[in-house]
Amino acid sequence: MTDQKFVNNDFSDVVLNRHSVREFEPNVKISRDELQQMIAETIQAPSACNLQSWHFVVVDTPEGKAKLKEAAMKFNYPQVDTASAIIYLAGDTESHLVYRDVWNQAVAEGRITPEKRDEIFSSFLPLYENATPEFLQMDATIDCSMAAMQLLQVIRAHGYDANAWAGYDPQKMLTALGLDQKRFVPVMAISLGKSAEVPLVSTRYPASDVTEFL
Ligand SMILES: Cc1cc2nc3c(=O)[nH]c(=O)nc-3n(C[C@H](O)[C@H](O)[C@H](O)COP(=O)(O)O)c2cc1C
Repeated sequence: MTDQKFVNNDFSDVVLNRHSVREFEPNVKISRDELQQMIAETIQAPSACNLQSWHFVVVDTPEGKAKLKEAAMKFNYPQVDTASAIIYLAGDTESHLVYRDVWNQAVAEGRITPEKRDEIFSSFLPLYENATPEFLQMDATIDCSMAAMQLLQVIRAHGYDANAWAGYDPQKMLTALGLDQKRFVPVMAISLGKSAEVPLVSTRYPASDVTEFL
């Protein structure tokens, strides 16, 4: 529980007035402390078995942006060139290797009993230790997508705007960012900064068209 206040605490504005922004004020810097704080808020997102299979690469230098552009499709260059930062989200298929730490800490802090921890280990760890690479990649992609949506909202709550983008060569992207291709799954990039455009308000299919009640 926290009573932290954001720059924008209006939930309906954060969620319902979010639109992809692809042109940012190029001279606006967001401090690394604030970017790190945004990631700390982002990783309050839920994840399967609390595995937290996400990894963030923050790009906020011209050299880093040049690397991103080695993999990005050309139509995504404006949101690389003008963004204050780009946060790349990759899924981590090895998150189960450190899974014990998170629950050992919960025991050390008296939040769960050692018996409860051992029950969690015996229920969940075999699922991951015996999993296929495809399962681990899917699980990491889902966790990362949960984090990506939370990050988009955290960015709005900090008073900035963003564009999620996946128009890039996925393997080139991992290489450009120095991420091990065997371990990490490419998920998406999120450009953020102060908006320099009036964004398009995109259309949605009616909710009733994409909903079934059973
Ligand atoms: C996984 C994903 C990939 C996307 N890739 C791109 C992209 O490569 N380039 C881009 O300009 N926008 C990209 N977008 C943004 C979508 O085009 C945008 O979210 C959609 O058109 C709805 O508009 P809105 O964000 O303004 O509501 C992507 C969004 C998501 C969630």
